[in-house]
Amino acid sequence: MTQADYEAVGRICAAVYPTERPYTQAELEAHHQRFPEGQFVTVHQASGAVAGVHFTLIVHMSAFHIDDSWDTMTAGDSFADHDPVAGHTLYGADLMVAPEHQHHGIARALTEAARELVQARRLWRMVGGSRMPGYGRFVASLEPNTYISKVKQAELTDPVLTAHLHDGWDAVTAIRGYLPHDEESAGWAAVIRWINPDCPPPPGHELERLSRK
Ligand SMILES: CC(C)(COP(=O)(O)OP(=O)(O)OC[C@H]1O[C@@H](n2cnc3c(N)ncnc32)[C@H](O)[C@@H]1OP(=O)(O)O)[C@@H](O)C(=O)NCCC(=O)NCCS
Repeated sequence: MTQADYEAVGRICAAVYPTERPYTQAELEAHHQRFPEGQFVTVHQASGAVAGVHFTLIVHMSAFHIDDSWDTMTAGDSFADHDPVAGHTLYGADLMVAPEHQHHGIARALTEAARELVQARRLWRMVGGSRMPGYGRFVASLEPNTYISKVKQAELTDPVLTAHLHDGWDAVTAIRGYLPHDEESAGWAAVIRWINPDCPPPPGHELERLSRK
């Protein structure tokens, strides 16, 4: 992502999250200043338009809880918690594709780009919080972890979680309040992760010791 992309990124944000305030140019500049190589855009070659965007930062996950909110994980969207020295986890802060470019493999390409960054930096894993906007319809009838299991087993399809699962993420557990205003997801999200098979866990972070709720 470069400065020339900020306006287009704001427009994509307004289109995919109509009830949220779009990222400001200052916020996008903060992401860029903290970690330029972790901010990805895809460009539609025919028109030159920005079609999708993926924001990432490196976090020292021991400083966080598994059910921390998006606001906590991104230090209030400042990315001030980006820690390339002690961190071993690439945190996916956002992934959005413009509605007119969805279903063309762009989220997959952006996820692949982030995965290549994890491999190049020899990080242990990627972690994120997946919205589950299909859950709102089931909130009265299904526990959130049951919903996630059904999406994993393809008994149910979720417009966002299914895409992440198809793109190689695993869903670990449901958490509440990750994006408190996400009404479609009834305030719930799924913790998702991808483990880099080429990089062993850092000492004290063996997989079986990951906290689960
Ligand atoms: C979720 C999102 C990023 C997916 O982007 P996309 O570019 O359309 O996804 P892709 O075309 O790369 O699809 C990737 C995989 O997910 C599947 N998929 C994508 N959208 C899907 C949907 N609505 N329902 C079911 N599966 C879907 C695709 O079929 C594909 O899998 P396959 O190749 O095995 O068939 C996009 O819908 C979006 O921007 N949503 C709004 C913003 C948002 O909520 N972002 C997530 C924040 S956690």
